[in-house]
Amino acid sequence: MGCGQTFLEGWINCDGSLSARLATLPRPLLQVARATGLVDERTFDFIRFLRAHDVVPVDVLRRWPFADQSIDLIYTSHMIDCFAEQQIRHFFRECLRVLKSGGALRLAGLDLAREVQTYLEDRDSRRLVSMISPPRSEAIGLRQKLRDLVVPAKHYLAHHDAGSITAMLAEVGFVDIDTLSPGHSTIEGIEPVNLHQRQGESMYIEARKP
Ligand SMILES: C[S@@+](CC[C@H](N)C(=O)[O-])C[C@H]1O[C@@H](n2cnc3c(N)ncnc32)[C@H](O)[C@@H]1O
Repeated sequence: MGCGQTFLEGWINCDGSLSARLATLPRPLLQVARATGLVDERTFDFIRFLRAHDVVPVDVLRRWPFADQSIDLIYTSHMIDCFAEQQIRHFFRECLRVLKSGGALRLAGLDLAREVQTYLEDRDSRRLVSMISPPRSEAIGLRQKLRDLVVPAKHYLAHHDAGSITAMLAEVGFVDIDTLSPGHSTIEGIEPVNLHQRQGESMYIEARKP
C-alpha cells in the first residue's frame, strides 16, 4: 500500500495519491499539464512509472476495493508518515477488515524517538523542525501557486514512535505486535520485501489479525 516506485513482483501494488489519480488522465491532458508546468518533472516521472507498471490506484483513506478477509499480507513503507492520527486509524481498520484471520501487516515508518535522539546528538534544530512542523507556503508567482494547488507540498503529520503505533494497532484489534530491527521479520512469505527499506530513518513494526 502506497508502493510509490517500490514495485513488488507477485504482489498487488497499490498507490492512491493525487499522482496516481493524475496517472489515469488521458496522455494529451497530461502533456498539457507538463508543458504548462502545472505538473513538475518529478511528479511527471512518478506518473510515468505508475502508468508503466501495474499499480492499482487505491486511496487508502477511503474504503478499499478488496473483500473482507481476502488478503494474506499487507506491506506499507513510509506512507503513514504524512497521515493524521484519524487517517492512520482508518488505514489500520481497513487492513484488519481485508486481512484473513492470522494475516499480517508489516510497516516501516519514521520514528520520532530516533529523530529526537539524533537531535540530542547533533543539536541540528533545523533538521528536527523541518521534520516535525509543516513548511510555510513559499509559493511565488501564479504558476507555482497553481502547481501547489494541483500537487500540494507534502509534510509530515504523524509524529509517532513504536509505542504510539503499537497502541493504535492494539486499539483497532491487532495482536502479536512486534517492533523489529532492520533485516528481521516474523512473517513467512514476506519476500521480496526489502527488510532494510530506508534503514537509518525507519522503525519496523509487524502485527497480526487474530
Ligand atoms: C514517501 S512515499 C513511500 C513510497 C514507498 N513505499 C517507499 O517506501 O519508498 C509515500 C507513498 O504513499 C503514497 N500515498 C500517499 N497518500 C496515499 C493514499 N491516500 N492512498 C494510497 N497511497 C498514498 C504516495 O503516492 C507515495 O507513493
